[in-house]
Amino acid sequence: MSMSRRSVLIVGVVSAATAILPPFICAEASAANLAARPVQSKVSIWVNDQQHDLDLDTRTTLLDVLREHLHLTGTKKGCDHGQCGACTVIANGQRINACLTLAVMHQGSKITTIEGLGTPDNLHPMQAAFIKHDGYQCGYCTPGQICSAVAVLGEIRQGIPSHVSPSLSDAPQLNAQELRERMSGNLCRCGAYSNIIEAINEVAGAKA
Ligand code: FES
Ligand code: FES
Repeated sequence: MSMSRRSVLIVGVVSAATAILPPFICAEASAANLAARPVQSKVSIWVNDQQHDLDLDTRTTLLDVLREHLHLTGTKKGCDHGQCGACTVIANGQRINACLTLAVMHQGSKITTIEGLGTPDNLHPMQAAFIKHDGYQCGYCTPGQICSAVAVLGEIRQGIPSHVSPSLSDAPQLNAQELRERMSGNLCRCGAYSNIIEAINEVAGAKA
């Protein structure tokens, strides 16, 4: 195949330019290539009492593992930025935002999602109370609200103070102020807040 004089000149200019590129530009280019390649890691997580051995891109959030890999879509993705609480699950007894944590950080963790709290035939008391008190409208925030509410009662029973607790050493009281503060990370666009408080109070067996 013959090349025109113009093609020969273009090839020559490109080759010369590549040859004189400073080394740091070449290093940046190969670093960019490496960054684009996903790093895989094996992770073993217990979800709702079932062990899952996964081979994951290390950048995968726990929320995406639950929804996209394990197809547990009860846990909702609202903001994906830690601001709405729709993705709340219970990890080793503590509530967390699943969108804010990488799955590889949960090797061996025991995760409970809304699917693991109860079943349609055997509801968790908090699920039953939400139904009884109309603690939802559209229901999008509800799985996160229920997981959070279950964990909140555990926190109060363990004597863990909140920002509004009058004392750091005395046992916190189960009252409306404490519940509002502790549930403040779970937003409800439908505004079912007062009914949610009633549902939590029923399960706690207290008046607030
Ligand atoms: Fe996680 Fe909103 S989706 S806090
Ligand atoms: Fe609709 Fe809470 S029930 S967002």
